[in-house]
Amino acid sequence: MNPSSPQHHDADWTAERAADLYGVDYWSAGHFQVSATGLLQVRAEIGGENCTVNLIDIVRGLQERGLPMPVLVRIENILDAQIALLNQSFARAIAQSGYRGSYRGVFPIKVNQQSQVIDEVASFGARFGHGLEAGSKAELLIALASLDADQGYIVCNGYKDEEFINLGLMAQKLGYRIFFVVETPAELPLLIRCGQNAGIRPRIGARVKLSSRVSGHWNATSGDRSIFGLTSMQLIDLVDELKANDMLDCMEMLHVHLGSQIPNIRDIRTGVMEACRYYVDLAREGAPLGNLDLGGGLAVDYEGSRSSHVHSMNYSLEEYCLDIVEVVMSALDLHDISHPTIITESGRALVAYGSVLIFNILDVTRFEAHRLPEIVAEDEHENVHNLWEVMATVNFARAQECYNDALFYRDEICDLFRRGQINLRSRALAENIYLEILQRIKTVIIGREDEYPDLAGLKEGLSDIYYGNFSVFQSLPDIWAIDQIFPIMPIHRLDEAPSRRAILADITCDCDGKIDRFAWDGALHKTLPLHPLVAGDEYYLGVFLVGAYQETLGDLHNLLGDTHVVSVRINADGNFDYVKEVEGDSVADVLSYVEYHPQTLLQKFRHSAERGVRSGKISPVERQQLVELYATGLRGYTYFER
Ligand SMILES: Cc1ncc(COP(=O)(O)O)c(C=O)c1O
Repeated sequence: MNPSSPQHHDADWTAERAADLYGVDYWSAGHFQVSATGLLQVRAEIGGENCTVNLIDIVRGLQERGLPMPVLVRIENILDAQIALLNQSFARAIAQSGYRGSYRGVFPIKVNQQSQVIDEVASFGARFGHGLEAGSKAELLIALASLDADQGYIVCNGYKDEEFINLGLMAQKLGYRIFFVVETPAELPLLIRCGQNAGIRPRIGARVKLSSRVSGHWNATSGDRSIFGLTSMQLIDLVDELKANDMLDCMEMLHVHLGSQIPNIRDIRTGVMEACRYYVDLAREGAPLGNLDLGGGLAVDYEGSRSSHVHSMNYSLEEYCLDIVEVVMSALDLHDISHPTIITESGRALVAYGSVLIFNILDVTRFEAHRLPEIVAEDEHENVHNLWEVMATVNFARAQECYNDALFYRDEICDLFRRGQINLRSRALAENIYLEILQRIKTVIIGREDEYPDLAGLKEGLSDIYYGNFSVFQSLPDIWAIDQIFPIMPIHRLDEAPSRRAILADITCDCDGKIDRFAWDGALHKTLPLHPLVAGDEYYLGVFLVGAYQETLGDLHNLLGDTHVVSVRINADGNFDYVKEVEGDSVADVLSYVEYHPQTLLQKFRHSAERGVRSGKISPVERQQLVELYATGLRGYTYFER
């Protein structure tokens, strides 16, 4: 279906078709849907009942409360549901296959460190004993304060210094189940010494490098050249050193991390099989183990293509759980080794779905001719007349020829302009005619573009630019850094055909501050179908599945700061509450992050304004107004405010 085709203007467009076009059922894992009236809804199952809330109602409520766009909306119910789903899927897989161990999830704090999120993970995860993974001292402090001692596991990855280890060991005395994962050979002597000094036997995990390489963007975290983990030689040394210190009984975990966002289930199976081989041989060496931590990797289908593409996944959660349980079981049964507790450190699969970035569109650039004259004046340059003639003769059979001619005359006119032989008005007229020619060519070849391979880029080249009130660098850094795909679509007007095609530009004025890769209609495209703006009405877009990594990795490019964040809880009666609200950065906040002192800036500006009064450039009243404007600017939101 081609959204720029005339069919999109027809009356039989339905909201259902919009749901299909934007692939809502494919990427949303059932958390979002389109209403018959064309509104995007978030869906929550409460007490067996389906409750839905329109995203546009959440936005309107925020407006009434004085919170302007852009806003990151977190839906608590979704995080709750995802934690339940992961734990219940493993429980089902375990029951179904007769596995004799259990499952424990730990959420890697680095995936979203925001305190609201960690609080929610801790409270929603409590009923499943879901724990936390800490990769640094700061994250360990978060983990210890967020979990009760008898709640979930705390898995400590990353480089650990003495302070980190001592805190973990003392916390172990309180009853916390803390695992120190040895990532490099240098860590073990320190861990042994700290344990001996404190008189506490640490629970040790060994992270091994698997040679299985996985596909996907993060495949460098897997395979022999992965940065973290022990080689098999180093693993043997670790076992021997533990034996020498009479501490092999402390080795309670084997840890592997295949990578993040693993799209292909076969890679997961292969990696788990290899991990089991290590597990078997370590058990034979006499290590008690009992815990097999398989790290992250459970993917999110950002693309909605259910494929092994980098931003997709070719398996379901059920399949993931069942495959892991079955592979572990069959590998260990062969050697009569008892089934360990399976741990996974799923991050993105838990938190991605619950956050939506919503922003308004500020402006549009269209690549269309406007105000074309009825005729070209006789004294216009010959090449402008030539362009006009080309325009009049565009048809399907001559599409390529017209395109070549238009390009030729347009370039000639640019040269003439550079040499001062035609003026700005003539050049503007020529550009206008040129755009009209391209638009006509695009229209006549619609549906038969494959007959004109050289004109393949025309549709994208003539698409609109929609300027959105957001920063790619602050809110969607992975789009800039790793070409990540996120589902993006309007949150209203879905009962209207989206007759425009556009790329999105943010307000950073950076040429990288744009989005020009979108997944819809089951494929990747360079443009997104959108609705034309209606004067006086806001047009809102949502970027979905942004709960993992984006907030933490975002930066202050152009000093656009954190957006407002609101947490929403959907209630059984179908209403919703704004349960938490974190105001985004003010201009003063972001200035202070880069070492300015807002008060000093204000002071300096006041002096400068005073000098203006003294030299008679402004009146004292104008000085007062100017200083007030400056002070208001400091207090204001960093984004565009209407
Ligand atoms: C050690 C470790 N565990 C877990 C994760 C989380 O992975 P994911 O978000 O794919 O679940 C990561 C991320 O790269 C990681 O490095």
